[in-house]
Amino acid sequence: MGDEYSMADDEKRNLRMGHYKKSGREGESSQGMGSYRDVAERMKEVARQQSMATSNMMKIRYKIVIMSSKGGVGKSLVTSSLSAAIASMGRSVGVLDADFHGPSIHKMLGVPTGYGMLARIDGTVDPVVTSIGVKIASIGLLIPKDDVALIWRGPIKASAIRELLAYVNWGPLDYILVDLPPGTGDESLTIVQSIPRVSGLILVTIPSEVSKSVVKKAIAFASKLKTPIIGIIENMSYYRCPHGEVIHIFGKGVAEDLAREYNIPFLGAIPLDPRIRECNDEGKIFFLEYPDSEAAVVFREIAKRVIDIVENGKAVIPEIRED
Ligand SMILES: Nc1ncnc2c1ncn2[C@@H]1O[C@H](COP(=O)(O)OP(=O)(O)OP(=O)(O)O)[C@@H](O)[C@H]1O
Ligand SMILES: [Mg+2]
Repeated sequence: MGDEYSMADDEKRNLRMGHYKKSGREGESSQGMGSYRDVAERMKEVARQQSMATSNMMKIRYKIVIMSSKGGVGKSLVTSSLSAAIASMGRSVGVLDADFHGPSIHKMLGVPTGYGMLARIDGTVDPVVTSIGVKIASIGLLIPKDDVALIWRGPIKASAIRELLAYVNWGPLDYILVDLPPGTGDESLTIVQSIPRVSGLILVTIPSEVSKSVVKKAIAFASKLKTPIIGIIENMSYYRCPHGEVIHIFGKGVAEDLAREYNIPFLGAIPLDPRIRECNDEGKIFFLEYPDSEAAVVFREIAKRVIDIVENGKAVIPEIRED
């Protein structure tokens, strides 16, 4: 069944967001849009969604997008841990998971897949409030289990992103953190273009040359879209053995090199810690389970830097010369 899953089956969770009812068929219909009237109607709908998304997002003071060009480098870990760290500093925080194909934020913040989001009679949807007070909205809350595959074409994903931006009742928030899927493709473009006044991007990399070269694409993306960069984080930077020795498993100093080269802030280096993966897999909040771990301490330091950069308007648009 996969993408044909019907949300109506899940009455107890009281879910309703149009797309999730009929994703496969809807994808086809948008490809085969026939008459000019259909196209005009569709464009009107897009404009309406966009204007609602704009006014909804304007209620949130600081809007941060977490990005990398490469998969599996820890964007979702950074988004979830940073949301917890920023919330622990007295800010109200929401997290929007824009990764429809591998949503994971909800689990990293202790909420099981399929938990649901409450739909209101006016068509809006409430985010889930986690045990640490961070609000989340994610497709992972709406699908029944992790192995459900959503097979959506680009226009449907763009529309679903605009719906999430438009119809989730975040209420007034200090921060929203948006977790992107890997790459500089459709979803990244839609998010950055649909959110008014993005405070900046946070780039995540691991210390490998391959990851370095793809992060450059994310920097070029920010430059082209005139979006500021808050800084760059190196995840899985090193492993500290139980007797204290530090091992650089993938490489060393890659994010710092990039930061120097492009004149963007280096926000910090997060160590490899097997307990991170364990917590993520078990649906526990690492930041809460191990608040004194080296990684949690680093996340708090990074959160302080992010707050300083964002709240004092220090994020800058990278300039890339096209030679
Ligand atoms: N510092 C770390 N130490 C140990 N495990 C980590 C660390 N960072 C991330 N992981 C683990 O690596 C895996 C990938 O992390 P994560 O899902 O955050 O990456 P991602 O960039 O969001 O991936 P995707 O591109 O698929 O969205 C997860 O299992 C996570 O638990
Ligand atoms: Mg992810």
